[in-house]
This record gives sequence, C-alpha cells and structure tokens, in this order.
Amino acid sequence: MTHTGMISVLRRAGLASAVAGGLLFAGANLAQAAGKAPTPPSQDWTFSGMFGTFDKGQLQRGFQVYKEVCASCHAMSLVKYRNLSQDGGPGFTEDQVVAIAAEYTVMDGPDEFGDMFEREAKPFDAFASPFENEQQARASNNGAYPVDLSVIAKARKNGPNYLYALLTGYVDPPAGEEMREGMSYNAYFPGYQIAMAAPLFEEGVEYTDGSPMTVEQYAADVTAFLMWTAEPKLEHRKRLGFQILMFMLVFSGLLYLSKKKLWSEVDH
Ligand code: HEC
Repeated sequence: MTHTGMISVLRRAGLASAVAGGLLFAGANLAQAAGKAPTPPSQDWTFSGMFGTFDKGQLQRGFQVYKEVCASCHAMSLVKYRNLSQDGGPGFTEDQVVAIAAEYTVMDGPDEFGDMFEREAKPFDAFASPFENEQQARASNNGAYPVDLSVIAKARKNGPNYLYALLTGYVDPPAGEEMREGMSYNAYFPGYQIAMAAPLFEEGVEYTDGSPMTVEQYAADVTAFLMWTAEPKLEHRKRLGFQILMFMLVFSGLLYLSKKKLWSEVDH
C-alpha cells in the first residue's frame, strides 16, 4: 500500500469512528431525553379483566374533572357531546347532554354571505377546543403542546396505569436535578421534567355524590373517563368475546360427541 493510500484508509477509519461515536453519543442523549421512567404500578380498574365494565358514576365524575380542569388546555376533538348519552358510557340523559353542550360556543359556517359565525354547541358537535390551533396552544403553554386527550389512554403504553401514575406523580425533584424553566418534576413522565404543572389538587373539584375529593380519586376518575373515550365499545367487545368463548366451548363439545357417535360404528 502506498503512503497516501494508507493515509486515506486511516482518515476514513477515523471519520467512521467519529461518526459512530457521534451516533452513540446522540443515541445516549436521546435515551436520556426519552428517559427511563419507572413502570407505573397497576391499579384496580373496574374495566379490566374479561368481565370488565365501566362504572357510570365514575365516568360522570371523570367527565367533570376533565371539564373543570383538563379542558382549559387539552382538546378532545374525537368526542362528541352526544357520545355522553350513548350505551356503555357515562349514562347522561339526552336532556343533560343538550344542557352540557349549550355551555359551549363553536365556530360554524360559512353562512350565505361567506362569513363564519359562532353558535351554541349542539349534541352533534365535537367537544369544544380550548385553543384555535397548535401554535396558539403552544404559545399559552411555554412552547409545549397539550396533546388531544381523545385516545391518549390507548396511545400510551399501559395507558390507564400510566395516566394515573402521571397525574399523581408530581414530587419534589431529587437533590441535584437541574430544573429547566417552567418545568415540573414528575416521577413517571419519561425524562421526568414535564411542561404541565400538577393539574389536580385536594378538593379542587366539587363532587356531589360523596366520593372522596382527593387527588387520587380525581386521577382515577378522569383516567376511567379517558379510557372510555379511547375505547367507547369496550363493554361490547368484552361481552362479545365472552359469548364467542362460550359458543366455542359448546361447539367443541358437540363436535366431540358426534365424532364419538360416528366412529362407534366403525370396527377397530
Ligand atoms: C395549564 C394547562 C394544562 C392543564 C390544565 C392540563 N394539562 Fe396536561 N399537559 C399540558 C401540557 C403543556 C402538556 C405537555 C407536557 C410536555 O410535553 O412536557 C401536557 C401533557 C399531558 C399528557 C401527556 C403526557 C405524555 O405522556 O406525553 C397527558 C396524558 C395530560 N397532559 C393529561 C392531563 C389531564 C388528565 C389533565 C386534567 C386532569 C391535564 N392534563 C391538565 C397542559 C395542561
């Protein structure tokens, strides 16, 4: 190998290791940014397991928590007011839904002159959004985006347990943790520093059914509500699953019996 050839091989090797090193470094940084948060502990949910169902009272309270707390920052644009009275949901009556929707105004149009106009929300409208667009949402939240919560319980791994852990996971940062401007420390948020300040406080939402007005109760209720919006047909799916299972059992039994009957007439 010539001298210059040698140098170019060395140079390339150097470049390759620099690139590899850079990638490793970037990878480590990313892993750090994405963070390794602890696995959220499992909670007792009425909707888990084969016979899981939603607790209507809990869904109604969860909706109240969303409406009074979370809705000032988070949209739920896949949910319509009329869903609140649908089978398998919180069980509001249709009149209640009309009244709930009427508390909001939505943009509609264009009218016959081509202008947009505001009107009272109706049951067929999607939940009103707190911000007009993502830029406005970010501008009001220190640059961070409060995600749409419609399907968040399914969009995050171990959704319900994670949501509950996140909402109850605000703690003092450990000694030596350098907090970035406007961030809060959360034991279950990947990376630990979250741009959402703790949203729930003891007695922050006035319950009328005697349920405890604690952060834990609010967190559990709003999580159940978010699970329902993410999977409104959960009860139906579980019921159908069970029925299919029963059918399979009976059907296998019949198959076995007819097999015995058929073969009993064959000489061995
Ligand atoms: C004052 C505004 C505000 C309120 C009120 C608020 N949030 Fe947030 N939320 C945010 C912002 C901003 C983020 C983005 C945080 C980030 O990316 O660091 C966020 C993020 C989230 C996330 C996403 C976490 C993840 O894994 O990415 C969830 C879930 C969430 N909020 C749920 C709720 C619930 C439930 C409530 C009501 C109990 C609520 N938030 C109330 C502003 C808010």
